[in-house]
Amino acid sequence: MGKNAVIIVAAGRGERAGITGKGPKQYRKIGSESVFFRAANAFVRNKKIDLIQPVIHSDDHGRYLDAVPDSEKILAPVEGGQTRQQSVFAGLRALEKLQVENVLVHDAARPFVTGATITTVLDAIDPGTCALPAHAQGDTLKRVDDAGYVEATVPRERLFCAQTPQGFRYDEILSAHREMDRAGRLDFSDDAAVAEAVGMKVRIVPSPAGNLKITTPEDLFMANERVFATLPDIRTGNGYDVHALVDGESVWLCGIEIPFDRKLAGHSDADVGLHAVTDALLGALGARDIGDHFPPGDEQWRNTASDVFLRHAVQQAASAGATIRHLDVTLICEAPRIGPHRERMRERIAEIAAIEKDRVSVKATTNEGLGFVGRQEGIAAIATATVAYAPSGQED
Ligand code: CTP
Ligand code: MG
Repeated sequence: MGKNAVIIVAAGRGERAGITGKGPKQYRKIGSESVFFRAANAFVRNKKIDLIQPVIHSDDHGRYLDAVPDSEKILAPVEGGQTRQQSVFAGLRALEKLQVENVLVHDAARPFVTGATITTVLDAIDPGTCALPAHAQGDTLKRVDDAGYVEATVPRERLFCAQTPQGFRYDEILSAHREMDRAGRLDFSDDAAVAEAVGMKVRIVPSPAGNLKITTPEDLFMANERVFATLPDIRTGNGYDVHALVDGESVWLCGIEIPFDRKLAGHSDADVGLHAVTDALLGALGARDIGDHFPPGDEQWRNTASDVFLRHAVQQAASAGATIRHLDVTLICEAPRIGPHRERMRERIAEIAAIEKDRVSVKATTNEGLGFVGRQEGIAAIATATVAYAPSGQED
């Protein structure tokens, strides 16, 4: 069995999408990845594909190096031609000595191709028959005259929109391209049309309309919207606090009062657990720190119960449009024992943050007798907060 290869044509200038300083459309970013990367990576990830032959423009070697995924399947790029057809032909010739049995041809400008489409196209190739992924035409179609007036309504029942990757027996499509090249017919807009021109059969393989080609600036905009709509905007923050232990009768930890022969010294109730969680949440929001919101020297916070601080951070999250997904805190102390109070602490934090208890975690560890915690001079806490923002944003 010969190999399965794909040619990715990326040598166009993307004139309809508009040339910008960022290069032609296939090198523009959708979300955090370029159009070219997304298109190529779908083939890198498909186990049935053995070789990937990129075809690029001579001006784009630098952009290509920035965009290409890291994979041993990817061959050195070759340069394309004036028309898409000539670019494909250059890619086909580059594969000549590589024992290719089936070849797919894909537009670098189609970043949303799925693994399922790639596999079904490959499976639909037969001798003399090539495979064309396509979706049915949904809108009513009008043909217009030179002045822009409707001349006729074209029945859409048997009309399909052609996509890529289109699949062929390698030898057959290479000789079809050779024949058209010799005949000087260089402007076929896809390879199924080249195959048709030499009498091959073209089989339609249904493919989602989402496998769209970026053609206009609007396509680029919508592609970004689509990616950001599905990309979770998750942020985390960490927090740390420590307070000294002094003579007393109880400590406040994670909103719970625990009888003890010492207490935590501080301006407020010195609840290191809630302070660490508050700072973690402010961190996730990029909203500075607890000392900035509640200056320690400020008399109004003297002896304050620390749930006030956490409630404030929770309000900050709400007004920033962030949803709290998880709060995790670790208390670091030799005593008191935290285990017996853990569930109540989780419930209390969940109540203050107005989230479910299973989104709160309270852990504890001793410091193995080491350092100030080991000598029971103080208690420390660290925390992590995870928040989710509603999807938003654009590349530009
Ligand atoms: N293509 C190519 N070589 C060409 C022309 C096009 O490799 N001489 C590639 C494009 O890079 C793109 C695919 O063929 O991935 C589909 O072509 P199209 O959408 O027309 O892209 P462009 O030709 O770049 O865009 P435009 O026609 O708007 O200039
Ligand atoms: Mg073009």
